[in-house]
Amino acid sequence: LNTTLSRDEKLLSICKLLSDSIDYYNWVGFYFANQETKTLHLGPYVGAETDHTVIPFGKGICGQVAVSNENFVVPDVSAQDNYIACSFTVKSEIVVPLFVNGENIGQIDIDSHVIDPFTKADEKFLEFVNQEIAKIFTV
Ligand code: SME
Repeated sequence: LNTTLSRDEKLLSICKLLSDSIDYYNWVGFYFANQETKTLHLGPYVGAETDHTVIPFGKGICGQVAVSNENFVVPDVSAQDNYIACSFTVKSEIVVPLFVNGENIGQIDIDSHVIDPFTKADEKFLEFVNQEIAKIFTV
Protein backbone atom coordinates (compact mmCIF):
# COMPACT_ATOMS: atom_id res chain seq x y z
CA LEU A 1 0.00 0.00 0.00
CA ASN A 2 1.08 3.56 -0.73
CA THR A 3 3.08 4.73 2.28
CA THR A 4 1.92 8.32 1.82
CA LEU A 5 -1.50 7.27 3.04
CA SER A 6 -2.27 7.81 6.72
CA ARG A 7 -2.86 4.79 8.92
CA ASP A 8 -6.64 5.37 8.88
CA GLU A 9 -6.62 5.75 5.08
CA LYS A 10 -4.81 2.41 4.80
CA LEU A 11 -7.28 0.75 7.15
CA LEU A 12 -10.21 2.21 5.20
CA SER A 13 -8.71 0.88 1.95
CA ILE A 14 -8.47 -2.56 3.53
CA CYS A 15 -12.13 -2.36 4.63
CA LYS A 16 -13.18 -1.41 1.09
CA LEU A 17 -11.06 -4.13 -0.52
CA LEU A 18 -12.46 -6.81 1.78
CA SER A 19 -16.09 -5.77 1.42
CA ASP A 20 -15.76 -5.35 -2.37
CA SER A 21 -14.01 -8.72 -2.78
CA ILE A 22 -16.07 -11.05 -0.62
CA ASP A 23 -19.81 -10.92 -1.16
CA TYR A 24 -20.78 -11.99 2.36
CA TYR A 25 -18.54 -9.36 4.02
CA ASN A 26 -21.26 -6.71 4.26
CA TRP A 27 -19.91 -4.48 7.04
CA VAL A 28 -16.16 -4.35 7.64
CA GLY A 29 -14.57 -2.22 10.31
CA PHE A 30 -12.00 -1.83 13.03
CA TYR A 31 -12.35 -1.17 16.73
CA PHE A 32 -9.38 -0.06 18.84
CA ALA A 33 -8.92 -0.65 22.56
CA ASN A 34 -8.27 1.97 25.21
CA GLN A 35 -6.79 0.03 28.12
CA GLU A 36 -7.24 2.92 30.58
CA THR A 37 -10.99 3.31 30.06
CA LYS A 38 -11.55 -0.37 29.14
CA THR A 39 -13.48 0.62 26.03
CA LEU A 40 -13.33 -0.10 22.31
CA HIS A 41 -13.55 2.79 19.85
CA LEU A 42 -14.79 2.54 16.27
CA GLY A 43 -12.11 3.15 13.66
CA PRO A 44 -12.34 3.08 9.85
CA TYR A 45 -15.25 1.04 8.49
CA VAL A 46 -17.43 0.52 5.43
CA GLY A 47 -21.11 -0.36 5.55
CA ALA A 48 -24.11 0.92 7.42
CA GLU A 49 -23.54 3.64 9.99
CA THR A 50 -23.54 2.33 13.56
CA ASP A 51 -24.50 3.93 16.87
CA HIS A 52 -21.95 1.71 18.61
CA THR A 53 -18.87 3.87 18.33
CA VAL A 54 -17.78 3.10 21.91
CA ILE A 55 -18.18 -0.41 23.38
CA PRO A 56 -17.17 -1.32 26.95
CA PHE A 57 -14.86 -4.34 27.34
CA GLY A 58 -17.01 -7.43 27.92
CA LYS A 59 -20.05 -6.06 26.08
CA GLY A 60 -21.21 -7.61 22.81
CA ILE A 61 -19.10 -9.81 20.59
CA CYS A 62 -16.49 -7.07 20.17
CA GLY A 63 -16.23 -6.37 23.89
CA GLN A 64 -15.81 -10.07 24.62
CA VAL A 65 -12.96 -10.38 22.10
CA ALA A 66 -11.23 -7.41 23.78
CA VAL A 67 -10.87 -9.58 26.91
CA SER A 68 -10.69 -13.14 25.49
CA ASN A 69 -7.97 -12.39 22.88
CA GLU A 70 -9.65 -15.02 20.71
CA ASN A 71 -11.56 -15.12 17.44
CA PHE A 72 -15.33 -15.05 17.85
CA VAL A 73 -17.56 -16.44 15.10
CA VAL A 74 -21.32 -16.00 15.44
CA PRO A 75 -23.12 -18.06 12.78
CA ASP A 76 -26.56 -16.72 13.77
CA VAL A 77 -26.77 -13.51 15.79
CA SER A 78 -30.41 -14.20 16.75
CA ALA A 79 -29.21 -17.18 18.80
CA GLN A 80 -26.42 -15.21 20.54
CA ASP A 81 -26.40 -13.86 24.10
CA ASN A 82 -24.39 -10.71 24.83
CA TYR A 83 -24.73 -9.45 21.27
CA ILE A 84 -25.06 -5.78 20.27
CA ALA A 85 -27.33 -5.41 17.23
CA CYS A 86 -26.25 -2.70 14.80
CA SER A 87 -28.74 -3.40 12.02
CA PHE A 88 -31.60 -5.82 11.51
CA THR A 89 -30.07 -6.89 8.20
CA VAL A 90 -27.09 -8.45 10.01
CA LYS A 91 -27.40 -12.22 10.43
CA SER A 92 -23.87 -13.29 11.39
CA GLU A 93 -20.56 -11.85 12.55
CA ILE A 94 -16.87 -12.61 12.87
CA VAL A 95 -14.42 -10.73 15.09
CA VAL A 96 -10.66 -11.40 14.96
CA PRO A 97 -8.30 -9.67 17.41
CA LEU A 98 -5.44 -7.51 16.13
CA PHE A 99 -2.16 -8.17 17.94
CA VAL A 100 0.77 -5.77 17.81
CA ASN A 101 3.89 -7.06 19.58
CA GLY A 102 1.71 -9.65 21.30
CA GLU A 103 -0.76 -7.07 22.63
CA ASN A 104 -4.45 -7.15 21.67
CA ILE A 105 -4.86 -3.54 20.47
CA GLY A 106 -8.22 -3.97 18.75
CA GLN A 107 -9.97 -6.07 16.18
CA ILE A 108 -11.43 -6.45 12.75
CA ASP A 109 -15.20 -6.87 12.86
CA ILE A 110 -17.20 -8.22 9.92
CA ASP A 111 -20.98 -8.50 9.70
CA SER A 112 -22.81 -10.55 7.10
CA HIS A 113 -26.36 -10.45 5.78
CA VAL A 114 -26.44 -14.24 5.45
CA ILE A 115 -26.54 -16.93 8.13
CA ASP A 116 -23.44 -19.02 8.84
CA PRO A 117 -21.08 -17.91 6.05
CA PHE A 118 -17.83 -17.81 8.05
CA THR A 119 -15.49 -20.81 7.92
CA LYS A 120 -12.09 -21.67 9.38
CA ALA A 121 -10.68 -20.28 6.12
CA ASP A 122 -12.15 -16.84 6.95
CA GLU A 123 -10.56 -17.02 10.40
CA LYS A 124 -7.15 -17.95 8.96
CA PHE A 125 -7.46 -15.31 6.23
CA LEU A 126 -8.41 -12.54 8.66
CA GLU A 127 -5.63 -13.57 11.07
CA PHE A 128 -3.23 -13.14 8.15
CA VAL A 129 -4.77 -9.76 7.23
CA ASN A 130 -4.36 -8.61 10.83
CA GLN A 131 -0.72 -9.77 10.91
CA GLU A 132 -0.09 -7.62 7.84
CA ILE A 133 -1.97 -4.69 9.42
CA ALA A 134 0.14 -5.03 12.58
CA LYS A 135 3.12 -3.96 10.46
CA ILE A 136 1.44 -0.57 9.91
CA PHE A 137 1.55 -0.08 13.70
CA THR A 138 5.20 -1.00 14.18
CA VAL A 139 6.82 1.34 11.62
N1 SME B 1 -22.31 -6.60 16.82
C1 SME B 1 -21.18 -6.08 17.54
C2 SME B 1 -21.26 -4.58 17.66
C3 SME B 1 -20.56 -3.86 16.59
S1 SME B 1 -21.45 -3.80 15.13
O1 SME B 1 -21.46 -5.20 14.56
C4 SME B 1 -20.68 -2.82 14.03
C5 SME B 1 -21.07 -6.71 18.90
O2 SME B 1 -21.96 -7.45 19.31
O3 SME B 1 -20.08 -6.46 19.58
